[in-house]
Amino acid sequence: MLLSVSSSITLGERAGVVVTSEAGYRRCPRGLKPRALDARDPLASFFDRFVVDDPSVVYLDGNSLGRLPLATVARLRAVVEVEWGRGLVGSWEHWVDDATRVGDLLGTTLLGAIPGETLLADSTTVNLYKLLSAACAARSGPIVCDTHEFPTDRYVAGAVGDVVPTIAPGVSVVLRSVVDYRTGALADMAAVTAEAHAAGALMLWDCSHAIGAVPLALRDVGADLAVGSTYKHLCAGPGAPAFLWVHGELHDELRQPIAGWWGQTDRFAMERQWDPLPGIRCVGVGHAARARAPPRWRRASRSWPKPASRRSAPSRSS
Ligand SMILES: Cc1ncc(COP(=O)(O)O)c(C=O)c1O
Repeated sequence: MLLSVSSSITLGERAGVVVTSEAGYRRCPRGLKPRALDARDPLASFFDRFVVDDPSVVYLDGNSLGRLPLATVARLRAVVEVEWGRGLVGSWEHWVDDATRVGDLLGTTLLGAIPGETLLADSTTVNLYKLLSAACAARSGPIVCDTHEFPTDRYVAGAVGDVVPTIAPGVSVVLRSVVDYRTGALADMAAVTAEAHAAGALMLWDCSHAIGAVPLALRDVGADLAVGSTYKHLCAGPGAPAFLWVHGELHDELRQPIAGWWGQTDRFAMERQWDPLPGIRCVGVGHAARARAPPRWRRASRSWPKPASRRSAPSRSS
C-alpha cells in the first residue's frame, strides 16, 4: 500500500512504507523500522502537541483540515469562558487588534513578509475577491487563471473579470497556487512571478496548500499579492480566518471593493463617509475574527521555517 503524506516519516510499521517529502514514495527497506526512523525525526516531538483521539488512525488529511493542537483546546476554553463569558464586551481589548497582530506574526515567520503587510480576515474566497478586484481596478486586461486551479479561484476570477489560462502581454493579474491541490506540485514562484511582471501583470499567489508545509518568501520572489487558508497545515481549526498579504509598495495604489466599517478610519465616528485606514488595515471588512495564536504555536513558529535569505526583490516595474 502506498500512502501520501506532506511532511516527513510518521507512518506506522503496519503500512510497510517510508515516505519522505523530497523522494515522494519509497518502500521501507528490510531492517529499517519506521518507528525507529520516527524517533530520529526532528519533528517527531510535535506529535505530542496534538489531540490524538484514536492512535490507530494514520491521519494524512492535514491538507484539508489540520489536527487539533492541545494548546487550542485550553485557549478556546479561556476565550469562551473567561473573555466572552465573564469579560463580555470589555474583553474587546484582548482581541481587537488580532487581525493585524497575528497577521504580522504569520507574515514575518511564514510568508517572508515585513510587519504591516499581512491581515487575518474572512475566508480565502472573500480575500481572493478583494485582491483580484483591487488588481483589476489598477491594471487593465484579463485575469490569468488555469483551468486546473482550485474551483473557488476559478469561480472568483470569472466573477471579477475575463479569464485566460496562460500568461500573455496585456493581462492584469496572474492567479496561481503555490502548491497544486491535486498533485502537490510546487510552483517555481520566482520564475512565474517574473513572467507575470514581464507581461505587465500583478502576481497573486494562493498559498493555501503551501503555508506551514513549505517555506515561503513572498518578498524575495517579487510577489505582489497573496491569500491562503489557516485551517489546513497551520491547524487553526474549522472557520478560522484566512490571511491576505499585499506588498507594502502597493498599499497606496490598490483599493479593495468592499467598503466595510473595519477598514474605516475611526470606525466609531458613525456618521462619517467611508475613509479607508492606511496600509493593510483598509482591506478589513467586518469585525475582526478571534484569531489569537496560542502561546505554544508562537514559540514553535519562531524556529521553522528558517528565515529566508534576504535577496533584493526583482524590480516591481518590470
Ligand atoms: C487552493 C485553495 N484555495 C481556496 C480555498 C477556499 O478556501 P475558503 O473555503 O477559506 O474560502 C481552498 C479550500 O480548500 C483551497 O484549497
